[in-house]
Amino acid sequence: MSRKVIIAGNWKMNKNAAEGKALVDELKAACGNCCCCEADVVVCPPFTTIGAVVEAVKGTAIKVGAQNIHWADNGAFTGEISGDMLKSAGVEYVIIGHSERRQYFGETDATVNARLKAALKYDLIPIVCVGELLDERESGKTEEVLTRQIRGGFEGISADEMAKTVVAYEPVWAIGTGKTATPDIAQAAHAHIRKEIAGMFGEEVAEKVRIQYGGSMKAANARELVAQKDIDGGLIGGAALKAGDFLSLIKEALGK
Ligand code: 13P
Repeated sequence: MSRKVIIAGNWKMNKNAAEGKALVDELKAACGNCCCCEADVVVCPPFTTIGAVVEAVKGTAIKVGAQNIHWADNGAFTGEISGDMLKSAGVEYVIIGHSERRQYFGETDATVNARLKAALKYDLIPIVCVGELLDERESGKTEEVLTRQIRGGFEGISADEMAKTVVAYEPVWAIGTGKTATPDIAQAAHAHIRKEIAGMFGEEVAEKVRIQYGGSMKAANARELVAQKDIDGGLIGGAALKAGDFLSLIKEALGK
């Protein structure tokens, strides 16, 4: 089964509205010899930049994602953003459970699960992040950690909901460090993730789920990573902040 490549740029806490618009304008200008249509291309700006970016991508194939979502519909949750707010702002994707949220903001598999259900309720496409810490890898616990994150994170959703959910494997030791997982290491983790999904939702669903790699992915390594059997794209940090870098990475990922 062939899965459509999905490349998403996680801008993290970078780019104000004017800077975000400028970056999208540059991406658009290069869209003449577009490969954006062959892959699903998503940009995930900070909340306050979303409005400008939604405007800027109009008429293109580029989609907009958010970096978080709260599980409640509304209410007294200072500083949080609901699915309804994202949907009405023109957002189509949402990153959930990024390791930076797990590390710095107390995100757990249970909160990931609650946010995932909210995203699905509002018909947003979730990008759920999983991945092990360096000491977990070094002590041979990678698979155990991924299993726990998947079983906890995806508990209680339907097979149809799982099929449209995107998973991002982001080994924490590879994020922002310049240390990319080798294609073999990444492939082994992706295969484990797919096997766990198959165990929960069946083979057919697992074959549909797109699993992105994230962690120091750039044009120089994207081709080899995405060529792996279970790697269906990338969730990109640093290399998504400049149009030229992001476009070269997309081309490489598509094998162009
Ligand atoms: P880098 O590409 O900067 O390593 O970040 C990866 C990431 O965390 C994307 O969500």
